[in-house]
Amino acid sequence: MVSGTVVVLGGAGFIGSNFVREALDSFDSVVVYDKLTYAGNRQNLEEVIDEIRFVEADIRERDVLKDEYEGADYVVNFAAESHVDRSISGGRQFVRSNVEGAFVAMDLLRDVDIKEFVQVSTDEVYGSIEEGSFVEGDKLDPSSPYSASKASADMFVNAMWETYGLPVSVVRPTNAYGPRQHPEKLIPKFTLNALRGEPLPVYGDGSNVRQWLHVKDLNRAVLEVLLEGDHDIYNIAGPDMRTNLEVTRGIIEHTGADEDLIEFVEDRKGHDQRYSIDGSKIEEDLNFEPTTNFDEGLESTVEWYVEHSDRFVDD
Ligand SMILES: NC(=O)c1ccc[n+]([C@@H]2O[C@H](COP(=O)([O-])OP(=O)(O)OC[C@H]3O[C@@H](n4cnc5c(N)ncnc54)[C@H](O)[C@@H]3O)[C@@H](O)[C@H]2O)c1
Repeated sequence: MVSGTVVVLGGAGFIGSNFVREALDSFDSVVVYDKLTYAGNRQNLEEVIDEIRFVEADIRERDVLKDEYEGADYVVNFAAESHVDRSISGGRQFVRSNVEGAFVAMDLLRDVDIKEFVQVSTDEVYGSIEEGSFVEGDKLDPSSPYSASKASADMFVNAMWETYGLPVSVVRPTNAYGPRQHPEKLIPKFTLNALRGEPLPVYGDGSNVRQWLHVKDLNRAVLEVLLEGDHDIYNIAGPDMRTNLEVTRGIIEHTGADEDLIEFVEDRKGHDQRYSIDGSKIEEDLNFEPTTNFDEGLESTVEWYVEHSDRFVDD
């Protein structure tokens, strides 16, 4: 147990709400700070709501945020617009929350004494790679308004280091999956559709490759960086690569749905073909390795959505 308080920005979303469970085992107290956009959900916190302090506000509200920082020791920023398709339809809110929001959340560190701030970025900032894997020093080459907004926040981290020497680290995780993800994302969406006998709309020919990381592993890495990180950038690589079609087939297998539900649809604009990052730095520096392989993790994740399908009747 670490003595101190952690503020979890975006703690009512998918990864943040799972992080809260880890944080409750590690810190004296946990504050969840979340605007509750369409993606944030109080239900994600229902079994732990009495153990945390919940603040409903935008991360751009500097004064509200400052009050929370004043009693805190650590901050993790999960708050963001996170859906690539929505960023393609309109990127403005992505600039507000992911760039301006991240800026406000970090700039406040100049006024308040915080031990460590972790900015949660993404592997998507590097763009697509045909073969091999990106390392932390590689150039950022984002393709979507979403990944461009996340890369911008990473640039601000650099400015915070160079200009003010602030205690910030960056993590760049690969595609995450697990319980409590919004049903607009591939694994929950396809699982719920499969259970209802509805089509599974696969982009293009389904050959896009992603490195899949269980949310529990992701959050163990975030915790490690929060407590032991060295104001640096850390890739967090999922242990297994799968094409979208392989993921879809896995969901079909675990739900017992019909293969005929697969429907190939027009590809996403600017769809990156392959993401791959090298996770050896965090392994060497902080002794972190993911422990959940994709096949087991997918099976338990599908089970979670089967057990909680009543939560998603309106989605
Ligand atoms: N899900 C993934 O596969 C993945 C992979 C790599 C990185 N990431 C990054 O991890 C972080 C969390 O992702 P997620 O999948 O949990 O996202 P999510 O969309 O499920 O949750 C985001 C949360 O942030 C809150 N939020 C949004 N804008 C806000 C604002 N302006 N002020 C306060 N709260 C706000 C939402 O209400 C929501 O609770 C994001 O920064 C995302 O870019 C996600």
